[in-house]
Amino acid sequence: MPYSFDQVIDRRNTQSTKWEKFDADVLPFWVADMDFAAPELILDALRQRLEHPILGYTTQPASLTEAFQNWLRHHYSWDVPADWVCWVPGVVPALNLSARTLPSDSEIMIPTPVYHPFLDVAKNATLSDIQVPMQVTQNSSGNKWQMDLDAMTDALTPKTRMLMICNPQNPTGRCYNTDELNLLAEFIEKHDLLLVSDEIHCNILLDPGVSHQPLGKLHPALAPRTIHLYAATKVYNIPGISCAAAVIPDDKLRREFMRARAGLLPGIGPLGFLSSEVAFNDRSSWVADLMTYLRGNLAAVKACVGDRLTPLEATYLAWINVADLGLKNTETYFAQHGIGISPGAQFGNADYIRFNFACPRTTLDEGLKRLSYAINQAGTDQIDKS
Ligand SMILES: Cc1ncc(COP(=O)(O)O)c(C=O)c1O
Repeated sequence: MPYSFDQVIDRRNTQSTKWEKFDADVLPFWVADMDFAAPELILDALRQRLEHPILGYTTQPASLTEAFQNWLRHHYSWDVPADWVCWVPGVVPALNLSARTLPSDSEIMIPTPVYHPFLDVAKNATLSDIQVPMQVTQNSSGNKWQMDLDAMTDALTPKTRMLMICNPQNPTGRCYNTDELNLLAEFIEKHDLLLVSDEIHCNILLDPGVSHQPLGKLHPALAPRTIHLYAATKVYNIPGISCAAAVIPDDKLRREFMRARAGLLPGIGPLGFLSSEVAFNDRSSWVADLMTYLRGNLAAVKACVGDRLTPLEATYLAWINVADLGLKNTETYFAQHGIGISPGAQFGNADYIRFNFACPRTTLDEGLKRLSYAINQAGTDQIDKS
C-alpha cells in the first residue's frame, strides 16, 4: 500500500522551527524538515513505548546497532563491525566532535557552498578552516557543482589535517560519483588527511541514475582515515528526536572522538533510540514512495524556475540562482512576497537561494506561485530590494 503525502497538516502552534520563524502569512520553504507525517510504523512504535509511563535514562540498545549494521549491509554492501559505531545525539554534534579530535594548530578544509553549521565547526573548536569554493561546470543538463581538487591542492598547508564534506551535498544536491570519490580518495591519501563525510541525505536520491557510496566502503584501505555520519531522522522526518551514528573504523580516532564528547553531550533518549531502530529496520515502500512524490515536486519547481534550478541528484532542497535579480537580501525580499527561503549567503554563495520542496503539492503550488511572482517582480518592483 503506497504511502500518501498529500495531506496538509497544520504545524503552527507546535513550536515548529520551520513554521514559527516568519510571519503567519509567509509559507516556509527553508529549514530541512518535511511537512509530511512520519510513517505510522515509527509513530506506532513510539505510541507503544509511551504506554510505559517512565522515560528514564536509557542504555543504548545492541539491537539498534544491529539494525544499523544491517542497513549499511543492505544498501551499501558495507560490513561494519559493531565497535566502529558511535551513537551521538545528532550529526551536527558529530561534526563538531570530529574537529575536536585534531591537534590545536590544525586547519580543516571545507568545500563550499555547504550546510551552514560546517562553517562554524573550526571556530567552535578554536581551530581554523580553509573554505574552498566548489567549481560549477556547464553540461547539457545544466550546472554541475564539483569539488575543485586543484584549488583544494593549492589551498593546503602543512596544518591541513581534515577534509569535511557533505555527500550527498547540501545545498547543491550533488551525489558524488565513483570517479569523483576515487579522485577524492587519492587526494586524502596523498595529503595525509582525515575525511569527515556527512551522509545524512544518502537515501534521498531523486535522480534515478545516481547511487550513493560511502568512501570507506569503496576504498577499504582508506577507511581508517574516515568518519562517516548517518541518521535516519532526515528521510523519516523525525529530526526533532535526535539520534545519529558515526562510523569510525580507526580505534585511536574513535577513542578521541568519544573522549571529546565526554561529559558534554546528553545521552540519546529512549524515543530517539527506538525511532531510529525502527527506521533502520524498515524495508517498506516508505523511502521509494517518498522519492516518487519528491520527484513530482521537483518537476513542479523546475517548471516554475527553469534553468535557474541546479539539476538535483539528491536532497529535497532546490538550489536556485537569483544572481541576476540584484537583490540585496534575498531572505527579506522573498518573505515580503510570502515565502520563507534560505539565503544562499548562509551556505557561502549569495547568488542562490535554497528552497525546501518537501511539502504537500498544494502547499508547494501556492509557494511556487509566489516564487514566480517574486522573481518576475524583481525586475520591475519599485520596493526596496533589500
Ligand atoms: C547535511 C546536513 N547535516 C546535518 C543536518 C542536521 O543533522 P542533525 O539534526 O542530526 O544534527 C542537516 C539538517 O538539515 C543537514 O542537511
